[in-house]
Amino acid sequence: MEYKENELCYEDYCKLRESVGWLLFSKEQTQKALTNSLYTVIAVKDSQTVGMGRLIGDGMYYTIVDIVVQPDYQKQGIGNRIISMILEFVDKETPIGGRSSIQLIAEKGKELFYEKIGFKLIPHEFCGSGMRKVIRK
Ligand SMILES: CC(C)(COP(=O)(O)OP(=O)(O)OC[C@H]1O[C@@H](n2cnc3c(N)ncnc32)[C@H](O)[C@@H]1OP(=O)(O)O)[C@@H](O)C(=O)NCCC(=O)NCCS
Repeated sequence: MEYKENELCYEDYCKLRESVGWLLFSKEQTQKALTNSLYTVIAVKDSQTVGMGRLIGDGMYYTIVDIVVQPDYQKQGIGNRIISMILEFVDKETPIGGRSSIQLIAEKGKELFYEKIGFKLIPHEFCGSGMRKVIRK
């Protein structure tokens, strides 16, 4: 398996989302979002992109999105490696004396995958629930 940085393209993005039954966004929105990503990782096997992850943010607050491993390649450590590379990127970007906060929304039932690499469930003693609002047009 080969892991590549900042090479996630529109076609692979759509293919991977569809492989796990996720809805797509419009093409225009997606291309803009990919361009605006801070960092992306793809996992490539025999010239096929079989996994991806994407990081967005502003240097203090970061959000991990679009973590997907194609179903027939799951449970082989690929998702774990993708998240680790994203965390390494944020670690390098964080200045001495600074701090970075990394958020994500786990799919129902996938919390343990993230807990195993150090994410804490919220709410907890210092945080309330995560919240979100979706705008549809
Ligand atoms: C969630 C997902 C990214 C995990 O990728 P993966 O490559 O299968 O995960 P890994 O093989 O790297 O697993 C890492 C660890 O998490 C655990 N894990 C993986 N999927 C899990 C799940 N659904 N529930 C609980 N634990 C899980 C593994 O057992 C492994 O633990 P170990 O290190 O103790 O053996 C993948 O299943 C996927 O793409 N699912 C569909 C899309 C999705 O839900 N993405 C997450 C959005 S929040």
